Amino acid sequence: MRDFDVVVFGATGFAGKLVAEYFANCYGDSIRWAIAGRSLDKLEAVKAELIELDPSCKDLQLIVADSNDRESLEAMAKRTTVVCTTVGPYAKYGALLVEVCVETNTHYCDLTGETQFIRRNLDAGWHMAAERNGTRIVHCCGYDSIPSDIGTFVVQEHCIEKEGKPRPEVVTFAWAAKGGFSGGTVASIMNIVDEATEDKDVRRMVGHPYGLNPPDKREGPDGSDDMGIGQDPDVGWTAPFLMAPINTRIVRRSNALMDYRYGKNMSYREVMKAGKGAKGLAQATAITAAIASFTAGLVTPGVRGVLEGFLPDPGEGPSREDIENGFFDTRIYARRPGKDPVIGRIYLDLDPGYGGTAVMLGESAITLALHADELPSKGGILTPSSAMGQILVDRLKDAGMKIEIKQAA
Ligand SMILES: NC(=O)c1ccc[n+]([C@@H]2O[C@H](COP(=O)([O-])OP(=O)(O)OC[C@H]3O[C@@H](n4cnc5c(N)ncnc54)[C@H](OP(=O)(O)O)[C@@H]3O)[C@@H](O)[C@H]2O)c1
Repeated sequence: MRDFDVVVFGATGFAGKLVAEYFANCYGDSIRWAIAGRSLDKLEAVKAELIELDPSCKDLQLIVADSNDRESLEAMAKRTTVVCTTVGPYAKYGALLVEVCVETNTHYCDLTGETQFIRRNLDAGWHMAAERNGTRIVHCCGYDSIPSDIGTFVVQEHCIEKEGKPRPEVVTFAWAAKGGFSGGTVASIMNIVDEATEDKDVRRMVGHPYGLNPPDKREGPDGSDDMGIGQDPDVGWTAPFLMAPINTRIVRRSNALMDYRYGKNMSYREVMKAGKGAKGLAQATAITAAIASFTAGLVTPGVRGVLEGFLPDPGEGPSREDIENGFFDTRIYARRPGKDPVIGRIYLDLDPGYGGTAVMLGESAITLALHADELPSKGGILTPSSAMGQILVDRLKDAGMKIEIKQAA
């Protein structure tokens, strides 16, 4: 029996503090949890704020650990069933913690959206080591990639139940959303761009549509992500979706890890819905141009400096009001020729990247800690759906997320 069910590592950062607040507000002392970070002073300050939310946090324990210091990470990992980490950019600060969690048989969940970080963990052999000793390492438990990954799971399970087989084509639409960015997210995006600019191996890892699949399963019908304006028969004009390069890889890895439950030849894409008619086309054009200019700006030295001046620094993010007033709506269309689409919907009344992400990561950590004996996969470098499946779906629904089939088979 370890001291804690969950340790939130990175609780002094923007996203980590929201996860800690989620635990204080929703679970108080009904789970055994602690917060961790590299600065005791900052942890004390976070604890003081948590006590305001829930007086039982006066007993909350603080753990000092640094992501570059193996000994401190081991000491932290050995005390808890799950490490829930928001210390990022993960490609800079995350590798040693994954190694330590596998070695100490400590389950792990994170918020990474960094393909190259996950691929390096796979290439380092941690999937097989974790599979052998029953450690669940679950990446991408935030807005990247839970709506896509859990959404595809729910829709394909519905098709399997109603039609006896999965559907061969799934398209996920970022339908509508309102939210902001934090400094940690900006730093992670910039780090991916920098690594990909400098290193062709990183470009190859990030660009490969099946780059996160097991090595013998890196092929399938999908090509590169949608980069321009598109037209969809059901929803009209579409634009590229910034998170598609990670979400698509995660959904394809889920399929491969679950013995191709969605079919070996399932095609999976993600785009942003712009809408029908001239207005939809104008919107798709504007979004596509904005993404292209932002990406070009990040690799153009003079422009990059100007952009950095406008973007949040590490530790900063959207206001409380913006988080409360935010929302996201994701629609998942599963298609089969000659049939109407089966449509799934995932909706939450909170900013996707922060308020919503705190719910998604918090519930993932609790699922790993409290439902260990019921989970579908025994261990490995996993995805949310392959690791936690229906149990996570049920917990997220209980936490207020709408996860529904809008148009049935
Ligand atoms: N998937 C999603 O939907 C999603 C949503 C939100 C965020 N994210 C990701 O989550 C990560 C964090 O974002 P954020 O906005 O919370 O960033 P942030 O505010 O900059 O927080 C980073 C945290 O990491 C800690 N840290 C940095 N270096 C460390 C080290 N050597 N040892 C221990 N801790 C260290 C910082 O500690 P100090 O306070 O001491 O500096 C801080 O607690 C980013 O990678 C971001 O992309 C993903």
